[in-house]
This record gives sequence, structure tokens and C-alpha cells, in this order.
Amino acid sequence: MCGIVGYVGKKEAVSKLVKGLKTLEYRGYDSAGIALLQSEKIVVVKDKGRIANLEKSLDYNNLKGTIGIAHTRWATHGVPSKENAHPHMDQNKHFAVVHNGIIENYLELKNQLIKEGFSFQSETDTEVIPVLMEYYYQKYQDVMQAFQCTLKDLRGSYAILVISPLLPNTILVAKKGSPLVIGKGNDGIYIASDIPAIIEYTKDFYFLEDGESAIISDSLTFYNHDFQKIDKNSKTIEWEIDAIDKNGFDDYMLKEIHEQPEALKNTLNGIISFNQPVQFVGFALNKSYLENLKHIYIVACGTAMHAGLVGKLAIEKLCRIPVTVEVASEFRYRDPIIDQSTLCIFISQSGETADTIAALKLAHEKGAKTIAISNVFESSITREADHTLYTHAGPEIAVASTKAYISQVGLIVAFAIYMSEVLEISVSLSNELKKGLIDLPNLMGIVISHEDQYKKIAKKLVNETDLFYIGRGNDYHIAMEGSLKLKEISYIHSEAYPAGELKHGPIALIDKGTFVFGIITDPNIAEKTLSNLEEVKSRGANIILITNQNLKVEHVINIPNINPIISPILAIIPLQFIAYFIAKEKGLDVDKPRNLAKSVTVE
Ligand code: F6R
Repeated sequence: MCGIVGYVGKKEAVSKLVKGLKTLEYRGYDSAGIALLQSEKIVVVKDKGRIANLEKSLDYNNLKGTIGIAHTRWATHGVPSKENAHPHMDQNKHFAVVHNGIIENYLELKNQLIKEGFSFQSETDTEVIPVLMEYYYQKYQDVMQAFQCTLKDLRGSYAILVISPLLPNTILVAKKGSPLVIGKGNDGIYIASDIPAIIEYTKDFYFLEDGESAIISDSLTFYNHDFQKIDKNSKTIEWEIDAIDKNGFDDYMLKEIHEQPEALKNTLNGIISFNQPVQFVGFALNKSYLENLKHIYIVACGTAMHAGLVGKLAIEKLCRIPVTVEVASEFRYRDPIIDQSTLCIFISQSGETADTIAALKLAHEKGAKTIAISNVFESSITREADHTLYTHAGPEIAVASTKAYISQVGLIVAFAIYMSEVLEISVSLSNELKKGLIDLPNLMGIVISHEDQYKKIAKKLVNETDLFYIGRGNDYHIAMEGSLKLKEISYIHSEAYPAGELKHGPIALIDKGTFVFGIITDPNIAEKTLSNLEEVKSRGANIILITNQNLKVEHVINIPNINPIISPILAIIPLQFIAYFIAKEKGLDVDKPRNLAKSVTVE
């Protein structure tokens, strides 16, 4: 939520900042702004709306400067408006600040500063930062001291960039609980909320720990929590620039749906091979630990939680260990029963989801072993967890998650197989699933090749206002994910229900002409779900069935047959496409749906 970018170097900063912001726009898109250091003055340009809107008001000929900071906002404190857009400055224009996170004690600080005679222009929490810096600067006449005193006063989460004419050629940087990467390129030093925004310029990145800060000029100086100088080594990230291009697709979401076979292959590369035990480099659990395990929690939000539900089924089936899947925002506040005999798995594409991180910290405090599943190298969650298993889906830029979901499902099933192999149980099922996971990328290609069929179905649904998705077992989990995709990008209301639960209430909503998606990929419960579909049909509903079984229904989307534990990886694809094509047909911005942001760094 909110994206920040900064540049100190030899080249003009504006175009680099705008380019970085465009890559970060998935983090928020209600207002944007930039600040440059120009002839020892700060120049700020900002506006309500998207970055394209900001771009229109940028006069590149006059916006010269090789040091700048920029921000794209997802409003938390104060409506989306020009006044509330970042960067924010103090009244003497000594400091310009961009910030991602929430300053929890901003009201208290603001009131104190108002009493001291300072004034504020915005409703944001962020504005207290430059004003507080100015307060301390007036007191000590020292910028670094002002910066450090300010950081000490802030409670909450932040990634902050500050420029000041009092400290030319420099950006001050601090991080606590919000993501920030620093990359050293040939023509300067780049700072951003995430790697894709600056991968074009460098593959060598520095990662700040929470509480650390840095002074960035033509060199880098790092400080720990106590403002003592520290050394840091850079890490090389092998992502290609192509990964953040649309590569000829209309939208990132469409591109990412098409990238799914590759994402799964890359995620499972080196982990799964048929006739070999599953292995994770640098990670192992021993048999006695697993035998003594009483409970596993899988904790996540949204789509990642849906991947966790598939994981639950796989772990329980293969390992016979009870698994509870929970939404992170609930888990963290309900005093869950956790001890050393509990394993807690946290799934997060971004690795920055505030509730998931808080839930992980809680599990740690209570003594559980913690495993993170994340797509982002060195993200916050990976640094908190005992172990991290990475999905290698590549950067996911569309707000609606597709390839990350597929990769999470593949990885957690691989993890379930791994545990069953250590426990020496469920051998034949494990082998079947390993073969299935190896076959899946090809089978996914087949499902993707029927894109035109999904487009035709989508056209029929454009004017619907309510849709239903039903299934049993994993088919219900697919229904949940399909329904979420539809809601978030097409703004059509939908419900996902366990097929057998429908007649306990929601069937009252089924009317003549209501469209109901049925999902049937498990032959053992196919007839049961089919009966439930008959029940809605006899009340006038139109059925669209996604199945790998030979079933006769008016509208059928056939997908290849595979073990139901991993069928979500195939069955979700038509539902992703249908949601996508409906949104396109409605003329909506598929990659940046209203009110949403890719990385939810506030609770
Ligand atoms: C939906 C979607 C969200 C995320 C959720 C968790 O398409 O993307 O529901 O899955 O916000 O995000 P991460 O996985 O980054 O923790």
C-alpha cells in the first residue's frame, strides 16, 4: 500500500521516478507526486488520480534535477486529494518526505507540533514527519540529528525517503515494518518499495532491516537501530526486465494467466522429480518432529488463504495431521492455541501483508515453528519466519493474483508430499501427486488454449448482477477463488458456497436465469454436486459446469483429468479468464481494480 521511489545520481531524475512509480502503481493509485532537489530548493508536483494524470502536469523541460523522491498513494488517513498526496513538506520547505506505512501516534505528535506553532496542510499521518524534522532542525541546527530524533518519536510502520536542500546530493532513508530496497546502478543509487520498480537499472540490492536507516549520496552509509554505522552486503536478484513488461498482452493479468505453466515449473524446479524424494534446499524436518506434531495452522489472507485451503486437504490426506486454515486478521486477535507441537505456515505472495506478518510474530511468541511461503525475496515475512519456501512465479503485478496462487498451491502440495515422505506414509498417493505436478504445466497449456471458449461465456455474463459458484471439497476451494476473482475485477456480486450447504439458506436467492458455476473434479463426490446443480436448475438457474468428468450439462468447460488434490491448478484457469473477460467487456481497469492495492501493508 503506497509505493515510493527515489533516485540520487548523475542523470535527470524525473523520468526515472515516473517510470518507477508506474511499476509501483499496483500498490496504490489514488494520487501521486514527486519532489526534486533543484538549485538548492525543493520542487514538488503532485495531484489526485493516477500516475498518468500526474505525468500530464510534469514540465520535463523545467523539472531538472538528479535527486528526487516520488510516491503513489493508497489513502489511509485523509481522502484522495492533491493536499493529501505525497510528498509532504514542512512550512519552511526544508524537508520533503514520501512515506509508506502508518504513523500510529501522528495525532499526538501533530497536536504537540501545533502547540509549538507549526501548521499542517493535509489530513495525513505522514505530514508530521517533515514538520517534526523541522522542529528538531530548529532546535539542533543539524539535519542528521533532526532525522534521528524524528525516527525515535515515530510509532507505527514506515518506509521513508527524505530530501532537503540543507543536505544537498542526499536522500535519507529509514525503514520499519514497510518494504524498501536499495539498488546500486551504474548511473546512481535507486530506492523503491520493491525490486521490479528498479530492476531495469541494477541486479544488486541492499535490504534494510526494521529500525535501520541510511544516508544515500554517491555512496551508501547504513545505520542500525541505535544510529551506529553498520556494514551491509548487497544481494544479487536474477529477475529479468521482461518479467515486468506486458510482453504484448493487453494487461498484466492476462499475461500472468498465460505465464502460469512457467510459474509452476519454476516453483517446483529442483523440488519435485518423479522417483526421487521431494527436497527443499537448505530445509529439512525430521521424522520425530513430524510424529510429535499435533496441529498445523495455515494462515494467510485472500487468495493466499484459498491456496492454504488446498494445502490443508493435501496435508490431511497425505500426512494425517489436522490442519486449520485461518484468515490472518482473525487469527492474530483470537488467542489461538499454539505451542511447540504446532507448526504454523504463513502464505503471502508479497511477503508484506500486515496481518499475516503480525500472525507470524504471534506464532513465534507462542513457541511454534514457523514457515513462510512467499514470492518476494527478502520480504518482511521471510525475515520473520524460521524458514522460507519461495514460489518462483516471478513478479506478479496485476492486483488480482493468478500465477502466485497456482504456485502457492503447487508448493504447499509439494510440502505435503515432502512431509508424508519423511513420515514414510501414503507412498502411492505421493507418487501419483508427484507425477501430476510434473504433468501439470502441459495440462495447464491445454486449458489456457481454450481462451476463446471462456471469452464467449464471459460475454453472456457481462450484465449479470449476482453469480454463484458451488463445489465440494477442493472444488469448493476453487469456487471461493473463482468468486473472489470475479468480485475484485468485474465488481459483480458473487457467492461461493459448498454445494451441499446451498439448501440451508442461499438457495433462496436462486431465481429464473441466475447463473451458477458448478465445479466437479473429484469423481467420488461428482454425483453429489451434480444433484445440487439439478436442485438449482429446477429453480430456473443456468448452470456452467467446469469438470474433468464425463457429465452432461448444457454449458460444460472440460478440463483434463488429474487427482482432485491438485485439480484446483487446472480448474481455476477458466474462472480467471472468465473474470478477466467480463471485466474487459465492461471496460474496467483489470490490473488496478477500484479500492484495492496489491500489497496490504495496513491491518
Ligand atoms: C486477490 C489477492 C488478495 C491477496 C491478499 C494477500 O486476488 O491478490 O486477496 O491474495 O491480499 O496478499 P499476499 O499474498 O501478498 O499476502
